[in-house]
Amino acid sequence: MSGKRFRFWLCLGDKLEEKMRMRNKYRKPTTFRCNAGSRCSLSVMVWSLVGFLLMIHFYSLSRHKDGAGGHSQLQMSHHHPLLRELEQVEEENIQIPPPKGKRSPRAAKRRPKRPTTLIDEFLDESSQIRHLFFPDQKTAIDPMQEAGNDSFCYYPGRIWLDTDGNPIQAHGGGILYDKRSRMYYWYGEYKDGPTYHAHKKAAARVDIIGVGCYSSKDLWTWKFEGIVLAAEETDEAHDLHKSNVLERPKVIYNDRTGKYVMWMHVDDTNYTKAAVGVAMSDSPTGPFDYLYSKRPHGFDSRDMTLFRDEDGVAYLIYSSEDNSELHIGPLNQDYLDVTHVMRRILVGQHREAPALFKHQGTYYMITSGCTGWAPNEALAHAAESIMGPWETMGNPCIGGNKIFRLTTFFAQSTFVVPLPGITGSFIFMADRWNPADLRDSRYVWLPLTVGGAADHPLEYNFGFPLWSRVSIYWHRRWRLPYGWREQK
Ligand SMILES: *[C@@H]1O[C@H](CO)[C@@H](O)[C@H](O)[C@H]1NC(C)=O
Ligand SMILES: *[C@@H]1O[C@H](CO)[C@@H](O)[C@H](O)[C@H]1NC(C)=O
Repeated sequence: MSGKRFRFWLCLGDKLEEKMRMRNKYRKPTTFRCNAGSRCSLSVMVWSLVGFLLMIHFYSLSRHKDGAGGHSQLQMSHHHPLLRELEQVEEENIQIPPPKGKRSPRAAKRRPKRPTTLIDEFLDESSQIRHLFFPDQKTAIDPMQEAGNDSFCYYPGRIWLDTDGNPIQAHGGGILYDKRSRMYYWYGEYKDGPTYHAHKKAAARVDIIGVGCYSSKDLWTWKFEGIVLAAEETDEAHDLHKSNVLERPKVIYNDRTGKYVMWMHVDDTNYTKAAVGVAMSDSPTGPFDYLYSKRPHGFDSRDMTLFRDEDGVAYLIYSSEDNSELHIGPLNQDYLDVTHVMRRILVGQHREAPALFKHQGTYYMITSGCTGWAPNEALAHAAESIMGPWETMGNPCIGGNKIFRLTTFFAQSTFVVPLPGITGSFIFMADRWNPADLRDSRYVWLPLTVGGAADHPLEYNFGFPLWSRVSIYWHRRWRLPYGWREQK
């Protein structure tokens, strides 16, 4: 047996131990990895072999095929009982309408010769099934009117009204839970203006209006708190001049300084500036003072997010090197700048729209591919240390149909909200962009859970899943478990 082979068995022994820990939902304090210098006794080898066989046994026991989607799922859910109904797999069967005359230029340009797909229909503004992706005003979710069966129900893709009866304008958003006021604050791009193209080759855009802020106690009824960071109307040299780009604002609170700190992607119309902007406020509802922009660590920076860890250290994560990789680095203590520490992650994977979260000591991230406003497949990633290495686990989407899963339910990740009180459960927030009329882009919120075995094993893992699976469940209509509001 060659040395390499020998270490392979040892590794499996370790992996079994790892696997058992995972199964018991305890996180290990240190990583078990193949160590090139480790020595092996005969007993270790024997136990490794036994472990290997046991593992195959568990592995095959724990999985079964769900016929329609070909998705594997854990048979036994060790999740909170409140979550079980959210983990039901809900299928969609949408028929593509028969061809009719000319397609809209946007759909035609994309796939000139191929048969029409559901994605073409989605991109076609005059599609006969447009209402399935962009349901009209009549079906809007209105928390102020709703007292019956539909209260607290999320309908991904429907227009969602605030407490004043206006559609919520918080695209590319993020949520801050403010412990002081015990409120959730949803910040996002306020895009209630006309969509246009700055020049022939430019992407669809809306002039910057500012960052919208909404407050809620229940994550369903949202009160508009105003535009907490507004565009600059006259000074063309200003980062936030209305002709520029402001995307993906994220706000975190700094315990040390008592300030609310907002980071955002700032850019020019052609996306050549590729920088981050920083703003600050004494109150979650603003107004935020815009401080400055920069290229973090000297690199181009486009889609980005912030993550504040339990130890109070906050991190900036951004797409860089022309969106070919992500960069991650801690902010300084006042959260107003990056430090010199930066790691390149998911190198060469071309991911954007990062949304980070943490569960039982492991870091997870959802990202999208880079296809402009068109939807694409989400991937889940995991890491023991936030600075990496980050491993890619595969597509987290479950239910709908194959095209739903390959398009993140026709949406793009923006944030993951932890649900206090229910371990392992989160809300996945995504944007269903409408490039024909960006202000009419919709929100796709769905339950996300962590648990069970990941279905895309890692390279060094010899075909066996090491991480917990991240699952985002499609539902046409869903609500948080009844007990949730009381548990909070
Ligand atoms: C509530 O749901 C029940 C059963 O699904 C239905 O019969 C009833 O009409 C619904 N009520 C409202 C107000 O929607
Ligand atoms: C963007 O690109 C167009 C065409 O290439 C050019 O005319 C325009 O000046 C550019 N605008 C900015 C702000 O760089």
